[in-house]
Amino acid sequence: MTKKITFLGIETSCDETAAAIIRENNRGTADILSNIVSSQISEHKKFGGVVPELAARAHLENIEYIINSALKDSKINLDEIDGIAATAGPGLVVCLSIGLNIGKSIATFSNKHFIAVNHLEGHALSPGLETNVKFPYLLLLISGGHTQFLIVKDVNEYEQLGTTIDDALGEAFDKTAKMLDLGYPGGPSVEKFAKLGDKKFFKLPEPIINKAGCNLSFAGLKTAVLRESLKINENKKMKYNLAASFQNTINNILRKKTKIAIEMFKEKTQSEEVRLIVAGGVAANQTIRENLSNLSDEMKIETIYPNIKFCSDNAAMIAWAGIKRFKKKLLDKIDVTAKSRWPLDKKAPYMKGPGLKL
Ligand code: KG4
Ligand code: ZN
Repeated sequence: MTKKITFLGIETSCDETAAAIIRENNRGTADILSNIVSSQISEHKKFGGVVPELAARAHLENIEYIINSALKDSKINLDEIDGIAATAGPGLVVCLSIGLNIGKSIATFSNKHFIAVNHLEGHALSPGLETNVKFPYLLLLISGGHTQFLIVKDVNEYEQLGTTIDDALGEAFDKTAKMLDLGYPGGPSVEKFAKLGDKKFFKLPEPIINKAGCNLSFAGLKTAVLRESLKINENKKMKYNLAASFQNTINNILRKKTKIAIEMFKEKTQSEEVRLIVAGGVAANQTIRENLSNLSDEMKIETIYPNIKFCSDNAAMIAWAGIKRFKKKLLDKIDVTAKSRWPLDKKAPYMKGPGLKL
């Protein structure tokens, strides 16, 4: 029997301090030996968003305890671990550096392999924790910092089909929640209060819906929500209508753009066989899941949603990406540093800023 690779994963790119121990199994998926996530929601709640310095301090205070808890829960010793994988970007450098440096230190002092993981690759490979998904697949990555359609060809091989030209989808949810004073974190509260509203009440813009392929834009929608929110003051029913209309507009945009991305995927892979994976924190939204499942049924393609606990930020996906990279001998040296920007497809055009032509 060949030895099963086991990794410790560490994640501190934003406001979750997380550590996990993952072992590959005979089914080609992962045994989750432990998965600890400490969210900083209460720290950032009063500010309505993540404050980098507070996040970094909370990581520093918690990281040792979180890693020790992951080791304890896994019931294995550090000697039984083959390597350490830590998120090195993209994200807040002050936050990333904490997990990355402790990961590098553990690897050095315990003489283990070290892998610096791209957080986006963690999300991209996250369905593999529980499902043996064949490459290539189409990934819709929707999180607080990123919104992208990618062809996942293999580990370390990505082709970007489209991305947001302004805000990320999670950011649009968070800002909408803030404008409507619905609470923090924004995404889940918009989803909750949208259930109480009329989704057809407000007609909101769907930016670049009929152009720029499967690229996306949410800034104009956010401005429209701001404009309407200033008119409705504290009227609760109207707030719920606006939350519902915002979410409905997002669903219309995602449906249209995902349809385009599916066609692009078919053309690029020269195949009618499409597996669509929807990952990242926003993929926890049930209306988005239903909407994209309906589209998949119509287009006769398969859709896979990672378990909700692996959609939002976690270290299991980082350890898993570490195992996958280790098996491809994609090891890193200990002098690697944190990166705020780190695209998966290095050839993809940068889609933000003035002068952008669509
Ligand atoms: O993947 P993630 O945990 O962190 C990043 O890598 O950014 O995603 C966090 C984002 C936040 O913007 C949060 O509001 C959003 O995911 N989110 C949701 C829902 N749950 C989390 N957005 C919409 N509906 C939800 N149910
Ligand atoms: Zn994430």
